[in-house]
Amino acid sequence: MSVITVQTTPIEGQKPGTSGLRKKTRIFMQPHFLENFVQSIIDAIGGVQGKTLVLGGDGRYFNDRAAQVILRMCAAGGAAKMIVGRNALLSTPAASNLIRKRAADGGFIMSASHNPGGENEDFGLKFNGANGGPAPESVTDRIFVRTQDITEYRIFEGQDIDLSRIGTATLGGMEIDIVDPVADYATLMEQLFDFGAIRDLLSSGFTLRFDAMHAVTGPYATEILQNRLGAARDSVVNATPLPDFGGGHPDPNPVWAKDLMDVMMAKDAPDFGAASDGDGDRNMILGRGIYVTPSDSLAVLAANAHHAPGYAAGLSGVARSMPTSRAADLVAKKAGIGSYETPTGWKFFGNLLDAGRVTLCGEESAGTGSDHVREKDGLWAVLLWLNILAARKQSVQQILQDHWSEYGRNYYSRHDYEAVPSDKANALIERLRAMLNDLPGQECAGLTVEAADDFAYHDPIDESVSKHQGIRISFTDGSRIVMRLSGTGTEGATLRVYLERYQPADGRLDMSVDEALLPVIQAAEEIAQIRQHTDRDKPDVTT
Ligand code: G1P
Ligand code: ZN
Repeated sequence: MSVITVQTTPIEGQKPGTSGLRKKTRIFMQPHFLENFVQSIIDAIGGVQGKTLVLGGDGRYFNDRAAQVILRMCAAGGAAKMIVGRNALLSTPAASNLIRKRAADGGFIMSASHNPGGENEDFGLKFNGANGGPAPESVTDRIFVRTQDITEYRIFEGQDIDLSRIGTATLGGMEIDIVDPVADYATLMEQLFDFGAIRDLLSSGFTLRFDAMHAVTGPYATEILQNRLGAARDSVVNATPLPDFGGGHPDPNPVWAKDLMDVMMAKDAPDFGAASDGDGDRNMILGRGIYVTPSDSLAVLAANAHHAPGYAAGLSGVARSMPTSRAADLVAKKAGIGSYETPTGWKFFGNLLDAGRVTLCGEESAGTGSDHVREKDGLWAVLLWLNILAARKQSVQQILQDHWSEYGRNYYSRHDYEAVPSDKANALIERLRAMLNDLPGQECAGLTVEAADDFAYHDPIDESVSKHQGIRISFTDGSRIVMRLSGTGTEGATLRVYLERYQPADGRLDMSVDEALLPVIQAAEEIAQIRQHTDRDKPDVTT
């Protein structure tokens, strides 16, 4: 057994996106593709000599093979120790927690999140730093530069490691610690939430359904919700992680988690419903007969987090990604705490969390989290909701209605146009950029443009600037349109159009979302000529 050096040449298209590198699985399986990218990560972080790193993934197709390659390459690089989830499984938040708890130097997470899995679907890999969070842009830029001038990679020749048993193994001089993927994470949740109160709620007839979508949260939800909190045996459904997620999109939204939606909209629905995504960092929250938008969920959690022991002292501040509705800002304003608007992607919250400026953060794309880890966290959001429900002894619907009558309501929706030819999607954005200066003052669909810009983020902690983070158009009545291209898609371009309209507490709080957003949708079409650019007469996915 020895380290071999393999000559290679740069492979195009290895630029990390919003969350690591995502590609069709078959591309990842091409000769040298994974190895080039892993070596580029290793080089970009200054090597792995003597380091301790965490490794795990969401169990999708190729997860097991990729894990063996990463282990061998880290061994070749002289890593001291790898902490690996059993069967190379770790939810993204659990990986973040392990990095922090074991004071590791970072970790590799194998996932394409909510994208479908399988030989013909998607795979992904990202690197998180010592704080447990996604590598910042400075690092991902270095990784990309390296992928463009790589000439060789180093890999240890050896047998596959049996990752199915908890315990230790060695690869050359590297120690491998195979751990229970759930245990440390479940302990952390017990520290943050009042498990006693939630247990009481669940034994008082309150019913719940958690849909793990055949993805990684199955074992986590079964252990925490059923075994530790006493939810009924059939509460967690689709609980076994499958390499192809049962053929579905493991994306917890009303479109892809339609089964759960149908159950929750029925007359005999459980009191509470939730789902998580492929790698366990997203969440969808439902009450009987009601869907809570992720933007509203963030605001409600911010207003009520003090009910949970881990947040009893209050929040230091709240951050949301720019396209997320401004509902959380209203909570922060009333509470007199800081609120921040960051570009799309969890990596932008890292500095604010590390500096203690914010306790809670969230994105409209079903992501909510706190300073307990440096990733968004699906089950965490579910448990915080359950803790609040246990403390307030009200239904999800009542809590939401109380919230709107206190803060007003931000009607919100996102329209996605998927697999649009990249040149056409770019043309739409370019055209908007060229129009920005002339938009203020213009009237569209009865709304008057107040301001328009291409969002640039000035990080208040490290003062880095991230430009071109999305087109923002706001109107004098408080409505807003945001348009940006996805950084996680693997086919053509995905145009995301985010629509928001605000009604103050004494305004109309009971409209349907479609009705409320009609003028905003019309204005978006008028300004951006979406139909013409995408050749579609309606979005592919509306959430
Ligand atoms: C999407 C979401 C974004 C999220 C990311 C990773 O990125 O919109 O909020 O952080 O997935 O889960 P996008 O495809 O829009 O670049
Ligand atoms: Zn995810």
